[in-house]
Amino acid sequence: MNILLTGGAGFIGSHTIIELDKKGHSVVVVDNLVNSNPEALRRVGELIGKEIPFIKADVRDRAAMDKVFDENKIDAVIHFAGLKAVGESCAKPLEYYENNMNATFVLLDVMRNHGCKNIIFSSSATVYGDPAIIPITEDCPKGHCTNPYGQTKSMLEEVLMDVQKADPEWNVVLLRYFNPIGAHKSGRIGENPNGIPNNLMPYITQTAVGMRKELGVFGNDYDTPDGTGVRDYIHVVDLASAHVAALQAISRKEGLAIYNIGTGHGYSVLDVVKAFEKANGVAVPYVIKPRRPGDIATCYCNPAKAKAELGWEAQYGIEDMCRDSWNWQKNNPKGYEE
Ligand code: NAD
Ligand code: UD1
Repeated sequence: MNILLTGGAGFIGSHTIIELDKKGHSVVVVDNLVNSNPEALRRVGELIGKEIPFIKADVRDRAAMDKVFDENKIDAVIHFAGLKAVGESCAKPLEYYENNMNATFVLLDVMRNHGCKNIIFSSSATVYGDPAIIPITEDCPKGHCTNPYGQTKSMLEEVLMDVQKADPEWNVVLLRYFNPIGAHKSGRIGENPNGIPNNLMPYITQTAVGMRKELGVFGNDYDTPDGTGVRDYIHVVDLASAHVAALQAISRKEGLAIYNIGTGHGYSVLDVVKAFEKANGVAVPYVIKPRRPGDIATCYCNPAKAKAELGWEAQYGIEDMCRDSWNWQKNNPKGYEE
């Protein structure tokens, strides 16, 4: 298939290009580079031995998107483009709602006008709020999102479901990602956060490399085995291959399909610190800090539906994730700025 990746220069998109290429799919990338670097696409091109067709454009720019669809026969879209920093979304709610919602509205309208009605959407475990069921299955009720970023994911799921309900020609796959970490084993592409990282793994790797003094562990009084927060970390390469598997739901014309994309294993913050130290033989100094507002105690999924229906399951474990995150960080201490 010929797949359009919006936001394809980003962390998950860049890894997904490689997995699509392995299975013989071709890609076109649209990204405005607001949170990414074209060097990522250059390196992906090097890894797969072909140049990646790239259009620098904002998905909200209808004329640019019309041109992309006029000039390319697109079979399906993987819609990664969006702003994703939880803290920033609380400080700049309008910018987050405007970008994430309008980009999707323009995209869906342009797709419809060009007769392309197949979309895979990057959703998040955040739509479950404080989950009512652990491990989380897809029929767990959605919960209250504590931040505008999460609200956009939850609202866009509803928009996509309504579009599919109104016109059954649409095939919509909602992938609810758990916590992606790790990097491609080459160490050439990986996560490249701006400024001080908010998420756990980039903070650990920057501490291990000496850019940060110590990791702050946000709370050790949760109702979890060691008191620290438990999450379902998934290797970004496994997450990338889930998108390739999800194309089957589109080929089978399933209408609406929703999948949890995680490993099904919960690891605490201290489990991750220990696994990182063991996998890489480096120390990660840490101190216990107060809880971070909006955090929940435990979040991990039951990924059985994706296995049963798509034949997809995670291949990598926590030590692989720690090893590959570190390999990326130590080879690229300044990210894509060499
Ligand atoms: P990322 O920031 O690395 O990639 C997103 C890309 O979208 C960036 O390259 C950015 O430049 C681009 N973009 C943003 N707004 C755009 C617009 N209006 N027009 C064109 N391009 C635009 O993030 P990622 O980690 O690769 O995440 C990809 C998607 O998955 C996002 O929608 C994110 O919300 C979602 N998601 C990510 C995580 C995670 O932990 N990384 C978890 C759950 C869901
Ligand atoms: C966060 C977002 C979520 C988003 C996800 C993907 C919040 C509340 N949720 O999830 O919406 O989809 O990222 O990127 O921000 N931790 C520390 N010290 C740190 C950083 C994190 O102890 O410096 C802990 C957290 O308290 C949590 C765990 O590590 O228990 C994972 O945190 P993080 O990587 O930020 O992911 P989530 O909070 O699960």
